[in-house]
Amino acid sequence: MCGIVGYVGTQEATSILINGLERLEYRGYDSAGIATVTRGELHCVRAQGKLFNLRQKLETEVNPSQIGIAHTRWATHGVPAEHNAHPHRDMYNRVAVVQNGIIENYQEIKAELINQGYQFTSETDTEVIPQLLSSYLPAKPQGDDFLIAVQKTVNRLQGAFALGILCVDYSDEIIIVRHQAPLVIGFGQGEFFCASDVTAIVPHTSTVLYLENGEIARLTPIGVELYDFELKRLRRFPRNLDLTHVSVDKDGFKHFMLKEIHEQPTVVQSCLDHYLKNEAEDNPICLNLDPQIYTNTQQIMILACGTSWHAGLVGKYLLEQLAGIPTSVQYASEYRYAPSPILPNTLTIGVTQSGETADTLAALSMEKQRYLNLSREGKFKILGITSRPESSLAQVVEQIINTHGGIEIGVASTKSFIAQLMSFYLLALDFASRRGTLSREKINNIVKGLRQLPGQIEEIIREQNRTIEAIAHQFSETQDFIFIGRGINFPIALEGALKLKEISYIHAEGYPAGEMKHGPIALLDAKVPVVAIAVPGEVHDKVLSNAQEAKARDARLIGVSSLDDRVALSVFDDILSVPMVDELLSPILTVIPLQLLAYHIAAIKGLDVDQPRNLAKSVTVE
Ligand code: G6P
Repeated sequence: MCGIVGYVGTQEATSILINGLERLEYRGYDSAGIATVTRGELHCVRAQGKLFNLRQKLETEVNPSQIGIAHTRWATHGVPAEHNAHPHRDMYNRVAVVQNGIIENYQEIKAELINQGYQFTSETDTEVIPQLLSSYLPAKPQGDDFLIAVQKTVNRLQGAFALGILCVDYSDEIIIVRHQAPLVIGFGQGEFFCASDVTAIVPHTSTVLYLENGEIARLTPIGVELYDFELKRLRRFPRNLDLTHVSVDKDGFKHFMLKEIHEQPTVVQSCLDHYLKNEAEDNPICLNLDPQIYTNTQQIMILACGTSWHAGLVGKYLLEQLAGIPTSVQYASEYRYAPSPILPNTLTIGVTQSGETADTLAALSMEKQRYLNLSREGKFKILGITSRPESSLAQVVEQIINTHGGIEIGVASTKSFIAQLMSFYLLALDFASRRGTLSREKINNIVKGLRQLPGQIEEIIREQNRTIEAIAHQFSETQDFIFIGRGINFPIALEGALKLKEISYIHAEGYPAGEMKHGPIALLDAKVPVVAIAVPGEVHDKVLSNAQEAKARDARLIGVSSLDDRVALSVFDDILSVPMVDELLSPILTVIPLQLLAYHIAAIKGLDVDQPRNLAKSVTVE
């Protein structure tokens, strides 16, 4: 949520910063801005709306410089307008600040500064930072004065934030600060970069250092100095990134979302390649988790938000049904203010594609603290599931399962979801194998099924994409949709509805099929299509009966089902077809046509599929 990028070195800064912002735009796109120090003056150019608008402005406002900071905004405090766009400056135009996060005590600081005569021009929380910093700067700052003023400022701020700061008196210095919001430094030859996400840095260097919470860094063309919030010098070393999965190009696809849907067979295959051994082995799964996790865990608690929460629901089904471990799934944003009583021997799993979601990180940190306080009364472990093992999540959990989903740019999550599901299949099978809750034969059969998934996903995309596009044309004017599923496909109904809401702005609800008659059926008429997930298995007939009940109320029925399923064919008006598959594995397939349906409806409506309104991919504020 909000993206920061900074550059100091010998090259022209503006184009580097703008290209960096382009790669961070998925974090927010309400406004964008850039600040440079040019000919001894601080220059700031800002524009409301997407980066395109800023680019246009920069064509006429040229400020050549070798240093700068830039920002792409997801509005929290103050409407998306130019006066609220970052960078924000102090009233004397000495300091410019870009922020990702929220300053919780900004009202108090603002009142104090107004009393001292400071004048504010925005409604943002961020503007207090340059003003406060300016109040700590001597009239003619020199030496470490800038750094000391940053330290004093930071120690007054409450909340979660990452900052990039420029001072007019220091034309070769950027100071950056991390307090519970991500920041990474890129190391070049005589030049240094910083950004909220490594995606903005990788075109320039693969040598990076992730800041940790409570750290301040000073970047100059000759090097990087690292400090804590007391200005004690710290020494940590950069590392080299594996850039295999860091591709942020559309590769000929119209949208990132479509590209990422097409990448799903590869994502599943990559997960299998990393974690599946030969079936002849005692246990074909090799997640290499801490052995205590397998021996001690009596119950599991999953914490997540959004699509990752849906993956957690599928995870619960698998962990309970395959491994026999009682599992609960909590919205991290709710749980952090109303945690359950602690049960001994709990394994807590945080699921987050970005590894940066503020609520998920905060809920996990809270659990970590609660467990530390009680560690003598039981054994507790915290595990993370993410496609970004280098993210902030790593600082909170004891171990990470890397989903190998790679970087996802489309704001509506697709391949990350599939990768998370795969991790849950493997985790549940790993437990089942070690605890003997499933026979070897059953495990081998499931593994065999998993190995077929990449081909089956490919088949759905190849055979169904056009059909689904044609079906989508019929729904561009539709106002409401209902998605129903049962059992392991209930979370897929939720996910299908979420995808549609996110990118096509059509109201959609996911419901457990059997619950329809307890309320939502009242919504149905000929104008409300119902999408029912009905694959062969335990709840197949039940879902079809629920679909019939909807049909009796004139609803148009769309089935996610197999074309070989004659009963389903006779019930549904349209079929989004998936291959015949064991119900247990079906979520990996049933979600694909729902992603495509949402994609095509949004594309037909001419909406911005990759950057839907009001959303951001990485939600780093509460
Ligand atoms: C945002 C994104 C969703 C994502 C959710 C949780 O809302 O738009 O796609 O599911 O955050 O994000 P996480 O990174 O924790 O999985």
